[in-house]
Amino acid sequence: MRLPSAALAALVSACIVAPAFAQVKERPIPRVVKKDGRFALLVDDAPFLMLGAQSHNSSAWPATLAKVWPAMEYLHVNTLETPVYWEQFEPQPGHYDYTLIDALLAGARQHNLRLVLLWFGTWKNGSQHYMPEWMKLDTVRYPHVVDKNGRAVDSPSPYAKASLEADKKAFTAFMRHLKAADPQRTVIMVQVENEAGTWGSVRDYSPTAQKLFEAPVPEDVLKAMQVHSATASPNWQESFGAEAEVCFHAWSVAKYVGAVAAAGKAVYPLPMYANAALRDPLKPGIPGSYESGGPTDNVLSIWKVAAPALDILAPDDYERDDAAYLKILELYRRDDNPLFVPETGGAGKAHYLFKALGLGAIGFAPFGLDYTGAPVAADAAKSREEFLAPWALNNRLLVPMQRDIARFNCGGKLQAVAEVQGRTAETLKFGSWDALVSYGSSGRGPAAGNSSPTGRALVAQLKDHQFLVTGFFCRVDFRPAGTEQQRKSQQIVAGTGQNPSALIDGQWQHRQFLRVEEGVYENGTFKFQRIWNGDETDWGLRLGADPVVLRVSLAIY
Ligand code: DGJ
Repeated sequence: MRLPSAALAALVSACIVAPAFAQVKERPIPRVVKKDGRFALLVDDAPFLMLGAQSHNSSAWPATLAKVWPAMEYLHVNTLETPVYWEQFEPQPGHYDYTLIDALLAGARQHNLRLVLLWFGTWKNGSQHYMPEWMKLDTVRYPHVVDKNGRAVDSPSPYAKASLEADKKAFTAFMRHLKAADPQRTVIMVQVENEAGTWGSVRDYSPTAQKLFEAPVPEDVLKAMQVHSATASPNWQESFGAEAEVCFHAWSVAKYVGAVAAAGKAVYPLPMYANAALRDPLKPGIPGSYESGGPTDNVLSIWKVAAPALDILAPDDYERDDAAYLKILELYRRDDNPLFVPETGGAGKAHYLFKALGLGAIGFAPFGLDYTGAPVAADAAKSREEFLAPWALNNRLLVPMQRDIARFNCGGKLQAVAEVQGRTAETLKFGSWDALVSYGSSGRGPAAGNSSPTGRALVAQLKDHQFLVTGFFCRVDFRPAGTEQQRKSQQIVAGTGQNPSALIDGQWQHRQFLRVEEGVYENGTFKFQRIWNGDETDWGLRLGADPVVLRVSLAIY
């Protein structure tokens, strides 16, 4: 259903107070930067960790936003990711309707949230379902992909020039409006299309596509994919063999999405990204068994050269298998790509946010966490809060300290880990100290792992002998590290009544806690509350189900 613009406008202004754009001071435009091999998302010119949640697909309407904001409040997120619908935005060619965008801006400001807006344009999950009706009705001008048998597929053709021009025009109008309406930078990033690519055909087989498929592969693609061919100017088949069609389609889709992003950036250069429906990273299957043409892990380098206007290629990590889930995080953190997880979900995955942070993630958001949808299966009828709780726990702890986490991370001072089935302890190396993280241990006994692996820890080095420590369901301790040579000869004394110790240059060095301060983050700053000592420190620093932040000063004896 589409409401007439006038009715929408009335509804919106009845619920919210229109912001006075003209009086707001312009803040710096958010951007993604890289320094010393590490990335940061700068918001108001300082590193920002986006801890968000994504709404359901059909939630960004004035009638449903009332069920979105309370969920965001419960989740304690700092950012809402939510769509902007091309079909709503441009109901008639060249007539743009800004009411939903303005409702989102006003609502987010009222709730002290930032926004990541998702441009549901030419592609949404591989289809053209969000194209305006006037485009859907003209499949000659705005054609679909044609499969091997000449049948139209439920996916837009990346060679449709008129579609590309229409998308560029609409996206540019959207970005132009944002630039004017958002001097306070409520919107910090824009997703261009949604899971672009094609299901149902590995590529387009239209005559235009076929001609290009048989033509030489562009030099920059060959270079990026490190193809060294014996043939001069090899075509796609010669260059990529069994992966030729998926590589070709990725290049075609990426060119299109990159052109839309570039047009929007020329007007308003917010950070932009494309999200991927993934292929299984451990058992990938043949091309065609996963969405073809999107930024899957095998074609990331093609997307990088074909769509340089995109700052990030981002995984929608729904992998059920833990090893596959974690592999995805590693694959999308590259020297040319910051890790940003715009969609995730699944039971028992919330603690993996810490794994993402350990890889320098600049943002992380579970999908579909608002109050618009009721469970459709009776046995799935958990209370809505029960469903949200594991994600909310992370945010209650981390959102107040997100600026520090982002700063420590891009400064190379932070390490974070999460429990994986079968791994009960791990060591984080920080120069002259090792941080020892263990899961599911009580007292001095050995760590047995939690009954369901949910432990997570974050350690940041503040000074040579001072650390910030936080996490859940784990124990953290420290041990003198010594040099590499000394480590080889060091013995660990466990369960002997000694504090963690190491034999360094023939001398035993034992860790002692000089001062363990518990505090809370207020207005982005650590505020001291009390000193931990006695039972709270004698067996290491135990972090349970409550959000706790510790500032730990160490010495040796
Ligand atoms: C991934 C898509 O990007 C989302 O918009 C949504 O459709 C989810 N899948 C549904 O699980």
